[in-house]
Amino acid sequence: MPHVVTQACCGDASCVYACPVNCIHPTPEEPGFGTSEMLYIDPATCVDCGACVSACPVGAIVPGHRLPDEQARFADINAAHFEPAGADAARFPVDPSRRLPLAPIDHPRRLAADSPLSVGIVGSGPSAMYAADELLRHPQVSVTVYERLDRPFGLARFGVAPDHLATRSVMRLFDDIAGHPRCDIRLGVAVGTDVTLDEVRNRHQAVIWAGGAPTDRRLDLENATAPGVLSATALVGWYNGHPDHTDLDVDLSSSRAVVIGNGNVALDVARILTADPESLADTTLAPRALTALRSSAIEEVVVLGRRGPAHAAFTVPELVGLVDTGVNLVVDTADLASAAELVIDDVTTRTKLDLLAEVAGRPPADGPRIRLAFHRAPAAIRVDNDGRATGLAVDHTRVGASGTVESTGISETIETSLVLTSIGYRGVAVPGLPFDDTRGVIPHDAGRVVDHDTPVPGVYVTGWIKRGPSGFIGTNKTDSAETVGSLLADYEAGRLPAARPARRRVLSRLG
Ligand SMILES: Cc1cc2nc3c(=O)[nH]c(=O)nc-3n(C[C@H](O)[C@H](O)[C@H](O)COP(=O)(O)OP(=O)(O)OC[C@H]3O[C@@H](n4cnc5c(N)ncnc54)[C@H](O)[C@@H]3O)c2cc1C
Ligand SMILES: NC(=O)c1ccc[n+]([C@@H]2O[C@H](COP(=O)([O-])OP(=O)(O)OC[C@H]3O[C@@H](n4cnc5c(N)ncnc54)[C@H](OP(=O)(O)O)[C@@H]3O)[C@@H](O)[C@H]2O)c1
Ligand code: SF4
Ligand code: SF4
Repeated sequence: MPHVVTQACCGDASCVYACPVNCIHPTPEEPGFGTSEMLYIDPATCVDCGACVSACPVGAIVPGHRLPDEQARFADINAAHFEPAGADAARFPVDPSRRLPLAPIDHPRRLAADSPLSVGIVGSGPSAMYAADELLRHPQVSVTVYERLDRPFGLARFGVAPDHLATRSVMRLFDDIAGHPRCDIRLGVAVGTDVTLDEVRNRHQAVIWAGGAPTDRRLDLENATAPGVLSATALVGWYNGHPDHTDLDVDLSSSRAVVIGNGNVALDVARILTADPESLADTTLAPRALTALRSSAIEEVVVLGRRGPAHAAFTVPELVGLVDTGVNLVVDTADLASAAELVIDDVTTRTKLDLLAEVAGRPPADGPRIRLAFHRAPAAIRVDNDGRATGLAVDHTRVGASGTVESTGISETIETSLVLTSIGYRGVAVPGLPFDDTRGVIPHDAGRVVDHDTPVPGVYVTGWIKRGPSGFIGTNKTDSAETVGSLLADYEAGRLPAARPARRRVLSRLG
């Protein structure tokens, strides 16, 4: 039986270069790679050699005959990718040549310069570690990683859900990169606070800013800052033991919590709040959060999408992770009606809608539940006399012809004393660097930081602060490869500024 890519796939494409018969797609060179929710194995050409299994950093590839029940659906999901119809036929055209054994090969190229090159990387999240890995392929390059926290790897540690242990195992790969003899990692050094960016620039010929998007998008809503309203950023940090959020006051005394937004972060939060706490005891959940969850009164988490099911931001692999793992998931058939009016011809959306329809047809079950609600836009937070949240007023919506969210004129109030906003993350400005305040990113040209179209010499950017807060862990690999490609081209062309000897004061702080 052919091998199958399953839920934990983070899209880094390592398997693509390991497969001798080129049956894993889309490859980074193919259309659709940047928007694909995962990679897929073509069952018609897989020869079951198993080479991809050891290449995968998160254990996402399983031989078909060993698929556990909760992942069984992925065999069909992989196969469906190779039978595209409608819009997918254009997005993922079936190129007959890809059924031939012409395996893509990842050739590290030899640089045309050999003087030592020292690069500083700010941040130690996935984008930073992939950039370091790409640079360290070249013997003349040494890398210093500066991380403000006392533990490395950014959202791979403090974002990925504690029960997603396979995904979290990507940190083993990052550990290997950090342990490279030409990689030096400095923890507890916040660039901009403990040392200035200029001091780091003086120390290295090039600096890559990989600081991520550390804050959340704010909801412009009446009473949005009332006690009882929290951001998913803070809650995720709290249950993952992020030092900035350890003391968060999370009120779990209400029988219902409401999550605004229905991306993958919203699903993570809903799953953790409704899970049996004992099932989380052997995960990486922060001990303080485990204690709080053990006395939680939450019976229902409502996940609100302002648009319909066809526009839900969560991905199919994460939805399968709820549908097939015994989670008590509830969907109202009425909420799916809008999708029936649409012509859906991409396989991913079709799969999502089929899964939701299957859930809507299930009989009610006992125990804490997650309700996926659609066509509900937040309108106001209701508060009591003390100003604490008591409910969320929502407007029922329809999606207009131009894709805009319109109110139907019907509204309701959902009672709750815990409202979580999960409407996306946001980058913050870095002193000394240009910033696009509308998008919350550092402007760049192929990873070179640019100020009004002029490159800032020797300064580069990668990850969420470069492209915005979207994509999986592995998405940062191709992103960082682009940035490192620009940096190395500048090094070869002699365009990098020379490193200046650091002053004694700086040296002592940087170690
Ligand atoms: C809640 C959540 C769950 C996720 N789960 C998954 C998942 O299951 N699977 C998946 O594939 N993807 C997941 N993702 C997406 C994935 O985590 C991101 O694509 C990825 O982490 C982005 O990497 P980054 O390096 O740009 O940023 P980050 O991971 O945020 O790393 C940035 C790092 O820079 C450090 N830093 C910031 N400023 C400074 C400074 N001034 N000086 C020094 N250091 C600094 C930060 O402390 C941090 O360590 C998730 C994202 C979130 C938010
Ligand atoms: N397991 C995983 O692989 C995993 C886990 C977590 C995160 N991630 C990735 O990390 C990235 C960030 O995830 P995310 O969940 O934070 O963001 P996201 O996928 O961008 O979802 C944001 C959600 O917020 C909604 N929203 C935005 N503004 C709103 C408003 N004003 N009012 C109401 N709703 C609003 C969006 O609705 P609209 O669509 O209508 O705008 C959308 O439902 C994603 O790429 C995600 O896939 C991956
Ligand atoms: S098992 Fe072998 S042939 Fe099949 S996808 Fe993996 S590497 Fe390719
Ligand atoms: S995580 Fe990477 S190596 Fe594993 S299946 Fe996905 S793309 Fe392939």
